[in-house]
Amino acid sequence: MKIAIGCDHGGIVLKDNVIKAIVDLGHEFIDLGCYDLSSVDYPDYAKKVCDAILAGEADKGVLLCGTGIGISIAANKVKGIRCAHVTDNFSAQMSAEHNNAQIIAMGGRITSGEDAYTFTKTFLSTAFAGGRHALRVDKIMALENN
Ligand code: RB5
Repeated sequence: MKIAIGCDHGGIVLKDNVIKAIVDLGHEFIDLGCYDLSSVDYPDYAKKVCDAILAGEADKGVLLCGTGIGISIAANKVKGIRCAHVTDNFSAQMSAEHNNAQIIAMGGRITSGEDAYTFTKTFLSTAFAGGRHALRVDKIMALENN
């Protein structure tokens, strides 16, 4: 798979751990920035990753900001995207298995590099269960038309 990564200055601290998880699993990555600690606006990087997924340039994505909250809220405003804010390994698993999320978001100010590595590996290694969960995901997406 090809995985798009986007972050702001608050999340960049986790980027190397996320890249290591992707590479250790044998996947490729696209680093869509940011690239240093200069203050930037996380919605811009959420949009870059969402656009890459919707264009078929990436299969999944990882977004990083200070808490993971802002960048996940931004991503979930993009039609067609399901982004899960993840702070534990079980949620990383469920975000793929039950929610079929294309993206997880984590926070550089609340999650350690080791945990970000583990959560990324779990998210990327877990398959969507389908079945009753597919119906529920369909219902989530139908809310976009409300
Ligand atoms: C940036 O200071 C910070 O607000 C951002 O990284 C993120 O935590 C927002 O949710």
